[in-house]
Amino acid sequence: MEINKVGIVGAGQMGNGIAHVFALAGYDVVLNDIAQESLERAMALIDRNMDRQVTRKKITPEDKAKALTRIRTTLELADVGPNDLVIEAATEDEEVKNRIFAGLQPHLLEHTILTSNTSSISITRLASRTDRPERFMGFHFMNPVPVMQLVELIRGIATDEETYETCKAVVLRLGKTPSTAEDFPAFIVNRILMPMINEAVYALYEGVGSVESIDTSMRLGANHPMGPLELADFIGLDTCLAIMNVLHDGLADTKYRPCPLLTKYVEAGWLGRKTKRGFYDYRGERPVPTR
Ligand code: 3HC
Repeated sequence: MEINKVGIVGAGQMGNGIAHVFALAGYDVVLNDIAQESLERAMALIDRNMDRQVTRKKITPEDKAKALTRIRTTLELADVGPNDLVIEAATEDEEVKNRIFAGLQPHLLEHTILTSNTSSISITRLASRTDRPERFMGFHFMNPVPVMQLVELIRGIATDEETYETCKAVVLRLGKTPSTAEDFPAFIVNRILMPMINEAVYALYEGVGSVESIDTSMRLGANHPMGPLELADFIGLDTCLAIMNVLHDGLADTKYRPCPLLTKYVEAGWLGRKTKRGFYDYRGERPVPTR
């Protein structure tokens, strides 16, 4: 099946990046959010991130101009439904996602493939509440979307082969690489990445090292582009905690228990870059460790 028109629900951190890469790949994009302000912020970010790519000669100014004309914003789910592919990229909250899928339902076309960018919620469970579990998949992008090469494709128990093959072809047209994950808690990337981040928080909590020494160790000792605590701030500490809870609840193994210090930061509302404070304080000119 050929995909030309794509609807995206949620214009936040992930949604704006997803709109960015689809528009550059030549798809017509409808980007939806509940607040006009979020849509405006998303369009400004897309503009700025495309400028970075123009400056680095990854795309031409004409590519950018054409891509921007392909993105239409809307506050109505009714505009998102009638597309070939719909990607839900709203808050990582199952109730919110279920409400969105229910709201989209009357507006979907017969052939619309419904997907979620969830980082950890069961695809099979989300799919079972829609009218099309066979045309439902996990379509999981990494942050920052325009830069990261991988898209995880997660098959629910009922996902049919045509849906999977269609989504795989879309990932390739985006110029990215698909990896296939089965539908178990947190799939592949987060199943491995989040326990590492959680362990870094334990190392901090137990006084094994400071924020700076933990991040420097992993950057220079394991060649990671960012240290684990810097990466946790980048992803959002609330998201990291939510994923650890999904692993802990879903696999019932104490090795996934979230570090109490991670919980404490989230309780304080220190969620990382988005709130300007997490393991680092971003309010000044350069990030300063908070411990
Ligand atoms: N849009 C477009 N381009 C961007 C961008 C954005 N939002 N952010 C960065 N870039 C580009 C820059 O322009 C630059 O381009 P170049 O390679 O052509 O020079 C390149 O990316 C590198 O950027 P910078 O030079 O500014 O900075 P760094 O070299 O420090 O790289 C980084 C930044 C790519 C974010 C790098 O630090 C990195 O790879 N970090 C790890 C990210 C990661 O692990 N992400 C996965 C998180 S897990 C996840 O998303 C799953 C979810 O479910 C939680």
